[in-house]
Order: sequence, then C-alpha cells, then structure tokens
Amino acid sequence: MTTKNTVEIGFDEFDEIVRPAPSVVDFDNVAEASMSRRSFLGGGAAFGATAFVMGSTTLSAANAVAAGNKSSRLAFDMVKANALDTVTVPKGYSWQVVTSWGDPLWSKAPELDKSTGGTGASQEMAFGDHSDGLAFFRHNGKNILAVNNEYTDSKTLLSNREGGIAVTADDIRKSKAAHGVSIVEINQKDGKWGVVKDSMYNRRITADTEMAITGPARGHALLKTSSDPKGEVAKGTWNNCGNGQTPWGTYLTCEENFNGYFSASDENYKISPELARYGVSTKDRGYNWAMADDRFDLVKNPNEPNRFGYIVEIDPTNPNSMPKKRTALGRFKHENAEVAIAANGHVVVYLGDDERGEFLYRFVSEGKYTAGGDHSELLSKGTLFVAKFHENNKGEWLALTPETTGMTDAEIAIHTRLAASKVGATTMDRPEWVSSNPNKVEVYCCLTNNKNRGVKTNAGGDATPAVGPNPRVKNNFGQIVRWKPINEDHTSQEFNWDLFLLAGNPAVYDDANAGSKNINQDNMFNSPDGLKFDSKGLLWIQTDGNYSNKDGFAGQGNNQMLVADTETGEIRRFLVGPNECEITGAAWSSDKKTMFISVQHPGEKGNSNWPDGGDSIPRSSVIAITRDDGSVIG
Ligand code: FEO
Ligand code: CA
Ligand code: CA
Repeated sequence: MTTKNTVEIGFDEFDEIVRPAPSVVDFDNVAEASMSRRSFLGGGAAFGATAFVMGSTTLSAANAVAAGNKSSRLAFDMVKANALDTVTVPKGYSWQVVTSWGDPLWSKAPELDKSTGGTGASQEMAFGDHSDGLAFFRHNGKNILAVNNEYTDSKTLLSNREGGIAVTADDIRKSKAAHGVSIVEINQKDGKWGVVKDSMYNRRITADTEMAITGPARGHALLKTSSDPKGEVAKGTWNNCGNGQTPWGTYLTCEENFNGYFSASDENYKISPELARYGVSTKDRGYNWAMADDRFDLVKNPNEPNRFGYIVEIDPTNPNSMPKKRTALGRFKHENAEVAIAANGHVVVYLGDDERGEFLYRFVSEGKYTAGGDHSELLSKGTLFVAKFHENNKGEWLALTPETTGMTDAEIAIHTRLAASKVGATTMDRPEWVSSNPNKVEVYCCLTNNKNRGVKTNAGGDATPAVGPNPRVKNNFGQIVRWKPINEDHTSQEFNWDLFLLAGNPAVYDDANAGSKNINQDNMFNSPDGLKFDSKGLLWIQTDGNYSNKDGFAGQGNNQMLVADTETGEIRRFLVGPNECEITGAAWSSDKKTMFISVQHPGEKGNSNWPDGGDSIPRSSVIAITRDDGSVIG
C-alpha cells in the first residue's frame, strides 16, 4: 500500500494501487496483428451501406467532406487544438459561465471565500464542486438545470489545510456537501444565463441526503447497517458522474467511484472478495470521511459500501421528493444512464461500468412506458443484461438471472460485476458515456482507454485479450463502439456492431495508434468520454484524457469537444477547454438555442486560473454556448 496522498491521483490510478497488477499475462489473442493499422482498415461492412467507418464507403464520404464538399452538416470552422487557459469556440459562437463551484444558491448564503474554500454550512447552500453530467428541464414556465457534482478539488476546497487533507469535522461536512447533485433554476436576462437565487426549485443533494432503496436489493441483509437496520433508506450519493433523463421528467444520477471514500480503522481488516471486486480498500483515496462519520469505517459498518454504486432517480421539480436508488439497474461504477423507449414500450437503459476490463450493460423494464401513465416503478423491476461482442461484428445481450448466474435477484443487483463475470461478458476498455440516436435505432459508447488491455485481467480475473471492439494492446487513445439492435428493437437479444472511430495520433504514429482514417492531424484527440446526440442526430464527443500535449499526445492540446456526423464519419473539433480540465455533460435549452456543458477540474495540477482569471483559484463550472446570430445549436 502506498503512503502517497492518493487524493492527488486519478480514480483509475487509485484502483491500480489498491489492486496491484499480477504478473504480465500472455493472453492467447494478444497478437502483433492487433497493432497493425492495416488490420483495422480491412474491417467488414457490418452496418451495410453506411459501413464500418474504417471501410471504404464511409472513408470516401469523409474524404469528400474534408475536401470541401458543401454537403457537410458540421457548419462551423474547426477550432484548432490549443493549450490556452480559456474556452475556445468557433467563430460565430460565444460562451459564458452559468455557475461555478461555491456560488451561493440562496441570498442568505455568503459568497465563496476563496482563501478557505468556505465552510460546511456555506457549501451546503452553494453549488457543488466538479460539475459533470447535467440535464435541462422545462417546468411550469421555468428552466431547471440538474448537475452532478462528481468529486472535489481538495487543494481549492480545503485550501486552508495542508495538502488539501481534511482535519476537522467541519472539513468533512464541507467535503460531503461539495459532492452530490445541484438542482438550480436558471434564467436568461439580456442574453446572459444565471442562477435564480432563492428559487423554490433550488436544491442541494449531498452525501448525507436520505434516499429510498428500491428494487431487488431493498431490505436485503447485505444492505442493513446499524443506522438503517431494515436496509431501506441510504444516506447520500457521491461520485456522481454521468447522468440520464427519463421521458417522464426525472433526472438519473450515476454513482461511479464510490469505493474511494471508505477505509478501515484496523489496517489488518480483511476486505471481502466481493468488496475487493469494487476496489474497496482499507485506505480511502484521501477524503478522510471516516474520521467524522462511522459509516465510512469498514470495521464499524462493513455493509455501508453495498449501498452505493447505483443509479439514483430524482424528481427535479419537487424539492421535497426523496431520491430513489434504483438497484434493479445494477451496482457498479456507473458512468451514465442512457434511456431509450423500445418500439414495444419497454424502457431500455444502457449503462457503462467505467473501470479497466469491466462491462457494458442494458436494463429492460418489466413494465411499459405510456405517456401520462404511472412511471413510479418502471425502474424498479426488470432484467439486467450484459454485452457479449463476437468477432464477426455480431453481439448479444446475456441476461443476468438466477438461472444464468446461480445468484438471487438481490445478489445480482448488489454484486453485478460478479454476476456478469459468471456469464462470460466481454471485458471492455472502460465504458464511459452511452448515447442513443434519437432519430435511429442505434447506440454509441465511448471506450475511453485501457492501459491494461492485453496486459492484465480485470479485478475479477477475466482475461482482456485485444480483440473485437477493444482491439489495441495497452490502449492509450480510446475508441467509440456502436451497435444496431436487430429488427430495430432495443429489446432484441442480438445486435450488429462496429467501431465508429479509433482515436489516435497520426502525426506521431503510423501503426494502430494513428487511429482510424476519420482521425487526422487536424481533428485528433484522445480518451473520448462524454457522448451525446443532439436532436438533429449529430454526435457530440467530449474528452477526458492526456493533456500533456507531448510525446504520443503531441498536437492534441487541452481536453475538448468535437462533433461527428455519424452518417459520413466526419469529425470536427468544436471547443477546447482551459488547462487541465475535462469537458463533460451536455444538455440543450428547450428552444435548442443554448447548449450547456460542464468544465470539470480546470487546473487539477495547479496550472489554471479559469474562469475568474488573474491569480484566482480555478473553479469547475457549467457554461452556456450560443450562436451569435441567435439560431439553434443542436
Ligand atoms: Fe466519471 Fe468515468 O468518468
Ligand atoms: Ca466521465
Ligand atoms: Ca474519464
């Protein structure tokens, strides 16, 4: 175990520390061939006329567009990669900050004290840190934004503490309050979006907010704790990464790296294999929450981690409503929750588990969606499936049931990773956001990167051969996989798949690390993460990757947002973020004239003053992007 202050490192690196690599594995399928750029280019035309993006049909279309074909649907001048400490958008577009970490949501709350990061009390009345997934709701003539606050920048949140490490109970209160979800009413005055202070809709949901446990795991012995002996009401949500939005007007927030908050007061405490699969360890990532709250001490509350790692459904229009943990959608490191209504009315939710070598899931509701019907239990009951990709560009959804796993429904909901390993699901290169095309029955998923591909197993011991949709050993750049359910039915058991793109750097490499042919020196990037179709069917791609701008990443600049036309394969860079940030989350106003995104952790290594400038501390923020001519943007 390291003695390093782990709060300074990424969650994926933390997981590597708590689960040291076994000796290098020589997987059967780790072949030199997988690193040959040529091997990708011969890909079959799994999608018929539109074809494999690396196949000839799509390439010729992309090349035609690149050559100046006026038919491009990406009607803006591409932004060049840069390493500027600001947001760059195309000519004819503008951006502005809507709200930032620490902004008070009520007039009785103080402005952020940037020298201390505020107090527990001030943070409970302020916008949370590290804005991530977000959604826009129009309700009773009001505009409501729900925003995830994934985690915190300890150096700014606790700038009055050495190394950003919490030392008092109020530091812990502040840290817990900076996590969770912020729900804010916003309005646009004189062209500028801002928060409506004191709105009845403003709400903070934190690591201490009570929420009902619903679905198969409700009341199970593994969820019972000293403070909740019935296992029915959990306290709080944290590490809320991506999000979802239902057609019945609720917000879905997704608990991702929940493990890094637990520790054991006895360092010899034995972690169960089930908790180890989720990266729970005797040492936390540096948050110190156990210091002030016994829930986070595994010795005192060994079941507490079983109450996190779920999708939480929230009604943003009712600030008094109790959020509901939807255990039927499984427990893992949830990225986002992409909802599609199948033609037969069942609710389908696509779900990625973002850890190296983990899986891609689908939930199919037992009930059916009908406009105006009762939707309160649609996400409580249904079947969870996990994806198996075959080499021939075909794939299938494997049901996780007592029959296929030998586990009860509750155990499947709680130990979902173990259930998926039992049925032989395909280990993936860190599934991040999934997005379903609103105009077509097809779905895309970012596989952000995986340095362990072909090198080591996942935490459950499942092999990670470099094949199928995860074709590159030690994958540093990531790719986007897409699939079409057969019969254009989201509830079909089978699908056809191909890779929409392989990110890479064609300026540095001429092998597979150059990426697919729709990646060139002008639009290249690494580590696709956020992903969202707009109403026109254009695909917005956001990155959370290596921003060193050197070696294999030379020329790629800061993290960024691109737009893709999935029909032609054309990709253009639309936005570049400030230093050391990631770009994440996408939503549009109801008139589609404003796009909202999150700029998370600018200056995470200390090298940004965005957005306030001067020598100000950096702050994660939600920004609004508009067109100068007032026309729609998505
Ligand atoms: Fe929170 Fe996988 O990103
Ligand atoms: Ca992400
Ligand atoms: Ca990421």
